[in-house]
Formats: sequence, structure tokens, C-alpha cells
Amino acid sequence: MKHRIAGTYVITGASKGIGRAFALALAPKVKTLILLARDAKALKTVAAELVQLNPELVVQTHSVDLSDQKAIKKTTDAIRKAHRNIDGIVNNAGYARPGYFHELPADEFEKAMRVDYLGAVHVTRALHDLVPQGGLITFTSSVVGYMGVFGYSSYAGAKFALIGFAETLRQELARRQIQVSVLCPPDTETPGYAIENQTKPIETQALSAGAKLMTAEAVAAKFAKGIESGKFLINCNFDSALIYRLKSIWPSLVYRIMMGMVKKAQKNKSG
Ligand SMILES: NC(=O)c1ccc[n+]([C@@H]2O[C@H](COP(=O)([O-])OP(=O)(O)OC[C@H]3O[C@@H](n4cnc5c(N)ncnc54)[C@H](OP(=O)(O)O)[C@@H]3O)[C@@H](O)[C@H]2O)c1
Repeated sequence: MKHRIAGTYVITGASKGIGRAFALALAPKVKTLILLARDAKALKTVAAELVQLNPELVVQTHSVDLSDQKAIKKTTDAIRKAHRNIDGIVNNAGYARPGYFHELPADEFEKAMRVDYLGAVHVTRALHDLVPQGGLITFTSSVVGYMGVFGYSSYAGAKFALIGFAETLRQELARRQIQVSVLCPPDTETPGYAIENQTKPIETQALSAGAKLMTAEAVAAKFAKGIESGKFLINCNFDSALIYRLKSIWPSLVYRIMMGMVKKAQKNKSG
């Protein structure tokens, strides 16, 4: 199954970062974009950028907090009233709050699940029946969605859950010939990533230090290419594709390499 990008798409988390970059990448190819995020003003700014790129494009924006199931219902009801057909649902909204497990508040674990996982589940539940044969449903997980990483205990739970959900949905929606894909970006330069950096433990910083930052535009381009070539799990660069393979064939090696970096950072800190 290879989805062809055209028609009407819902994109969550489209006010900035990867979601905004993906909306800009889709703009020349599609008819309608329905953008969701909390910041209404930022959504309007993105809508104006999109129409500048493609004056024929119809852009609708909805300010909604995706951690709130009632708010999702209200928004998706409004989308359903306006549209009978949605070619793609792009569940991209999310955030990460790194920190030592014992220092993260209990609420943080619940919030991560509500925004990063349940937000996508509820949007998909509310709209999937509008997706036609040949349509698309995607989820933005992370490299941290298939490999636990020091400092990401709340985030990893939610992003692992998304991949399990997507694998299941892929099987259930195969009969309807709907493509399900999961984007797993590596560290990417976005407003969210800048916030994330403020609370990263030194061990997490050490693990990130070796990785090359991608731009949101490069991730969006890989995402579009992965979708159109029918991929389920979309890695965005050589390093993450290699980690993905190594993690499945030789997990103990990946663990040892990571723990070597963690211990070195801890030694440097204490010494
Ligand atoms: N950047 C990275 O290094 C990286 C790596 C792997 C995976 N990811 C994933 O990629 C996705 C996009 O991240 P990004 O780096 O582009 O982050 P970003 O720059 O912070 O953008 C996140 C988007 O999600 C929206 N959002 C966040 N919380 C929301 C909520 N409660 N309700 C509605 N919308 C919400 C934000 O909009 P508002 O603030 O306006 O609500 C924004 O549009 C996320 O799922 C993230 O976990 C990012």
C-alpha cells in the first residue's frame, strides 16, 4: 500500500516545529489542510504561510488542547460537520519533559500519556471512519519510541505506546486499505527541542551530544518520502536506521554502548 499525498489532511501540532514543516511540505500537493494546536495565533500565522505557498489551498485552524478529551470531541465534531472525507490524519502533536525518574512529578507521567498518546488515540477514534480506501493515518513517535533512553521515562512510555497502537491499527485497517505509518524522528531542531534541552540530565545531554541535529524541514521531507513509499516505520537518517536495526538484532550491545556514555558523563560530573 502506497499512499499518494493529495486531498484533505488533518495535522495536529501544526503551529510550530515538525508539524508546521510537514504542513509546508504538503501545501503544494493538497487541497485542504486542517491544523490543530493550542496556540490560535501561531496557527493563523502558519495558515498565512501556507496560503502564500499555494493560493488555492484551503486552510482551517482549530485551537484545541489535545490532553482534553472533551475538547477533542468538540473539535472533531466541527471537523466532521465540515468534511465528509479526510485523506490523511497526521497525529504529530507532542512534547518531551526529560528529567531523572525520581524527580519527575507523578502528574508528568499522566500528562505525557494524555498529550503524546491519548490525544492521538482520541483524534483517530473520532475521525478514522472519514478516511477512504487508500487514505493515511500517521503517528509521530520518536527514536525514544523503540529505544528507552536515560532521562526520558515519562516520554518513552507514551512514545512506545504509540508504536504498539499503530502496529495494531495497521492490521485492523488493512482491510480498508488505509496506510498506517509511524514517524520516528531523531533529535530535531524545533521550539519543543529547545525547551526539552532545559531539563535534560547530564547523562541525557551526553547521549544527545554525539547525534547530529536534523532540521524540521529535513524531517518533514523524509516523512513525506517515507509515506509515499508505503513505509510503516519511518526513520529519518542513517544513524537512527542503524540504531533501529542494531536494537532488534543485538540489544545488549546497544545497552552497553549507551551505558558506557552514561557512566562517562557521571564520572566527569563527580570528578
Ligand atoms: N524535536 C525532536 O527532537 C523530536 C524528536 C522525536 C520526536 N519528536 C516528536 O515530534 C512531534 C513534534 O515535536 P516538535 O519537536 O516539532 O515540537 P514543538 O516544536 O514543540 O511542536 C509541538 C507541536 O505540538 C503541539 N502541542 C503540544 N502540546 C499540545 C497539546 N496539549 N494540545 C495540542 N497541541 C499540542 C504544539 O502546539 P501548541 O503549543 O500551540 O499547542 C506544537 O504545534 C512531537 O510528537 C515530538 O514528541 C520530536
